[in-house]
Amino acid sequence: MVETVVDLAARKLGIDPVELRRRNTIPPGAMPFKTGLTFTYDNGEFEKNMDMALAIADAKDPHAIHEGQELFAANCAACHGAKAKGLIGPNLTDKTWLYGGKPQQIAHTIANGTAKGMPSWKNHFTTAQIADLAAFVHALGGGQ
Ligand code: HEC
Repeated sequence: MVETVVDLAARKLGIDPVELRRRNTIPPGAMPFKTGLTFTYDNGEFEKNMDMALAIADAKDPHAIHEGQELFAANCAACHGAKAKGLIGPNLTDKTWLYGGKPQQIAHTIANGTAKGMPSWKNHFTTAQIADLAAFVHALGGGQ
């Protein structure tokens, strides 16, 4: 029922339904805020609030997951494997997490890296791209 209403509202407003849901998932505390599609916050500072809001909003968004998949193939597969089952870096598809398997925790690890070989990506990707990557990793199956 709620979903049907969202679709209806989206049609009335001339907005893609996924896009409308995306907008609606963003907590009021994160306003003002643009969606991942047009978001260009990339001054290198991965603010905690933004990180949380985006990562949570993106975690179930097929578009975000798809974007994350492409970024993963190009930037992460070398260490984590094409299927993210682990090479130099650990398996990201299981439920074993060193730094937490919630979307916002995954985003935090990607943004900041770790002392034991996981690079920091916050100066390389936009906040939205990091949220997309976190959404993809979260969707691999082990995400909490
Ligand atoms: C140079 C190799 C390398 C690259 C490239 C790399 N990683 Fe990692 N990654 C690692 C290593 C090594 C660890 C384990 C770090 C530790 O034990 O502290 C890790 C850990 C992680 C973790 C934490 C897993 C857990 O159990 O909490 C995540 C999430 C992750 N990487 C995602 C990514 C993503 C997404 C990318 C691409 C943007 C990426 N990594 C690129 C080497 C890499």
